[in-house]
Amino acid sequence: MTNKSEKPLILIIDDEEALRDGCRQVLEKCGYAVLTAEQGIEGINLAREHVPDMAFVDLKMPNISGMEIIEILSRDIPDIVLVMITGFATIVSAVEAMQKGAYDYLPKPFNPDQLRALTKRGLDHRNLKIETRKLREEKDQMEKNFITFVSHEMRSPLVVIRQYIEALNEIAGDRFDKDVREIIERCRKRIQSLEEMVEHWLDISRIENGTLAQQKVSLSLASIISRSVEEMTPICRKRGISLETNIPKKLPQITGDAESLVRVFTNIIGNATKYTPGEGKITVSAQHDEYYTTASIADTGMGISPDKLSLIFEPFFRCGGKNEKHSGSGLGLTFCKKIMESHKGCIAVSSKEGEGTTFVLTFPAQINPARKASGAIS
Ligand SMILES: Nc1ncnc2c1ncn2[C@@H]1O[C@H](COP(=O)(O)OP(=O)(O)OP(=O)(O)O)[C@@H](O)[C@H]1O
Ligand SMILES: [Mg+2]
Repeated sequence: MTNKSEKPLILIIDDEEALRDGCRQVLEKCGYAVLTAEQGIEGINLAREHVPDMAFVDLKMPNISGMEIIEILSRDIPDIVLVMITGFATIVSAVEAMQKGAYDYLPKPFNPDQLRALTKRGLDHRNLKIETRKLREEKDQMEKNFITFVSHEMRSPLVVIRQYIEALNEIAGDRFDKDVREIIERCRKRIQSLEEMVEHWLDISRIENGTLAQQKVSLSLASIISRSVEEMTPICRKRGISLETNIPKKLPQITGDAESLVRVFTNIIGNATKYTPGEGKITVSAQHDEYYTTASIADTGMGISPDKLSLIFEPFFRCGGKNEKHSGSGLGLTFCKKIMESHKGCIAVSSKEGEGTTFVLTFPAQINPARKASGAIS
């Protein structure tokens, strides 16, 4: 049950009855709804049930301490404003409470004016926080819609321009001198990567709104890997990189869309070829246990610095920014992550600069009807 009343709901957790009653009277007079709890566990349960806007928590209570309550409530109820009440406010305890998620602290004894002022300030802070988050979400959505709109509009003219360039090359290519042919080829490549970026973005928005055609069937991960490796072998050979696989003979079937999964593997192997120097090695391996089937793609390339590692799945992020040596739009890994999520799986990365990068794709094991029927849950 959540707080349905229009009034802001305030929870007081304090083992002193007089303090609870005093706070209740003051706050109810201000037009707030008030809940009180004498004990920490009771307070946590009330908070989980009624989702208050703000809670005052006594630091010193029997059984569970105020600090622990603050930690639990700030984790469980994201927008709650928490205030620690304390009889012996020390800087250390105040800092600790703030670190655990408290907004402020109220030293005992306090008067009604102080309580009213802090409550109003806390609730204003909460409203501002919620408002800011909503605006940020709206802004993100508008940006996404805008990019999707522009991508749609750009797609047809891009295809037409590329076809004209190709036609020009075919009709009159041999009449141009080398310099002109080079310029035309550069135009063609640039248009092609723009086209690929538009397609990538549209695919990502299709996954997000559930309109990317995906046929989820039972399939062999080994065959997805071998199809992907076959596709990527020529480019590896061209770059002098060895591409090896290490797949156990008996790998369980997974549930997925073959085309999307091949694209996930080719994207990751493609990245590995871009960011691994010649003589390097890419190894694709797979393993499984009762619960998961995983595939790893490891390279011996340049690696990714720790501060950038958490950003590489963000749209348009590229470690080298505008100076990135290799062409690309920074959408490949965003696409892979979305595809993995649509398979109820996940993608993880670990890397060491100068040594290499490993991507791990995890797929949930298929539910075995025989095991389920026997009720065998270990
Ligand atoms: N194997 C890797 N080794 C080192 N850096 C990598 C590796 N894979 C990805 N990165 C870094 O992560 C960034 C994001 O990768 P992502 O595949 O999303 O984009 P991209 O390859 O730059 O462009 P796109 O895939 O859209 O053509 C890359 O630009 C690169 O900086
Ligand atoms: Mg890529």
